[in-house]
Amino acid sequence: MYGRHFSGESAMSEEIERIVLDFTQMKAFAQDPFIFSEGDGIWLTDVDGKRYIDGLSGVFVNSLGYRNRAMIEAITAQLEKLHFAPPLHGTTPVALDLVKALLAFAPPGMGAVKLLSGGSEATEAAMKMARQFHKQSGHPRKYKIIARYGGYHGATMGALSASGGWERKSVFEPLVAGFLHVHPPDCYRCPFDKVYPSCQITCAKLIERTIEAEDPETVAAVIMEPISISSAGFVVPPREFFSILRETCNRHNVLLIFDEIITGFGRLGANFGADYYGVVPDLLCCGKGMSGGYAPLAAVIIAQHVWQAFLGEPSERVEFHHGHTYGGNPVACAAGLAALRQIQERGLVENAKVQGAHLRKRLDAMAKQFDFVGEARGAGLLQGLAFDTKRFAGASLPPGKQVERAAKARGLLLRTGNDFATFSPPLIVTRDDVDLMCDVLVESLKEVEQGMRVRA
Ligand SMILES: Cc1ncc(COP(=O)(O)O)c(C=O)c1O
Repeated sequence: MYGRHFSGESAMSEEIERIVLDFTQMKAFAQDPFIFSEGDGIWLTDVDGKRYIDGLSGVFVNSLGYRNRAMIEAITAQLEKLHFAPPLHGTTPVALDLVKALLAFAPPGMGAVKLLSGGSEATEAAMKMARQFHKQSGHPRKYKIIARYGGYHGATMGALSASGGWERKSVFEPLVAGFLHVHPPDCYRCPFDKVYPSCQITCAKLIERTIEAEDPETVAAVIMEPISISSAGFVVPPREFFSILRETCNRHNVLLIFDEIITGFGRLGANFGADYYGVVPDLLCCGKGMSGGYAPLAAVIIAQHVWQAFLGEPSERVEFHHGHTYGGNPVACAAGLAALRQIQERGLVENAKVQGAHLRKRLDAMAKQFDFVGEARGAGLLQGLAFDTKRFAGASLPPGKQVERAAKARGLLLRTGNDFATFSPPLIVTRDDVDLMCDVLVESLKEVEQGMRVRA
């Protein structure tokens, strides 16, 4: 039963059986609940008073740390002025300031911003925008969206239709029509059994084959995450992948959508994944770290040449036919503006690069030390380990979940799948923080290795 040490526990102990968490079996959760009561910097504390290092930034969100004073002050100041503005009538100075700051931070060629509240809203909006763009720029038959197996673009019907892992999809089928999937650029588990670079980036070339086979005049967009992390995998494409994809999209008048909900705002040691790969998309979706988690905030950043097609006379009806009540909410915009200021003024993109390089060095050492660790991979402060699942045949839990459990017991939270564990700590981490996390991870890996030996 939950709540042994807390005031108010009797009410909470009943409600634990009535709350529905994301993608979680609540019967099991209710027997062993995990309830956070406060945070400070990179640390989280649960209601039992146990402290955890937040090695995954909440869920790729908490870039600026918990209880960040500047964030709290910026939000409070906006609340004192205006907490909501009628979205069908107008906007606010703080929303306009955020748009200006975002366009300055974004890759070149971007011309407008659609402000939203969450990642799924952003990917949905981008895909709808791609379809509408082609309808009003002379290619009305272009509607198909190509995504990749294992990708994740959100939980709403369109975003889920683009997502590629069956685990979160099949119970809701049939999904939205017009979505196709291709195999991912995964050099660790190449779906084509090839080896980089002799593969000549088959994964990218097959996207062009798919567009051609479908009839390019029916394909509206390709949507991809620069680096993908979902329960279905942890995929870092080879460097050339996105430049090949960009050329393919140009050749066939297909819009390239980057889903940067995780990779945006410095996470990879560059402003965006687009900057990391040196490839500019037509539509860039962002969220999560955009506000550091201080308010629900997301956006689609729109290339000027796309945006142009949405400007006309009211009678032409070319405006973007899309909106949400909380998109551009002034409190969320104040959080976004303050977050972006901190990212820039505190040099957090550079910090992600420097600390990320140190983290990677430590993970590479772990890959050498532990036989069941296949390789370390990632970019910036998004780094992880891939596990060799074959060695865990017959184990009650796959390696990723064993590592997660061992790390959690030692006070470290990670994002894991069956065959990987990733670090995505707040962008404010120091070298000592990274070392502490890695020391805990090494102890956790030792425990898992020990369990393997006992089973053998
Ligand atoms: C790459 C990616 N896209 C989209 C989403 C959906 O974002 P949200 O959960 O904010 O709707 C997520 C969420 O984890 C994500 O990781």
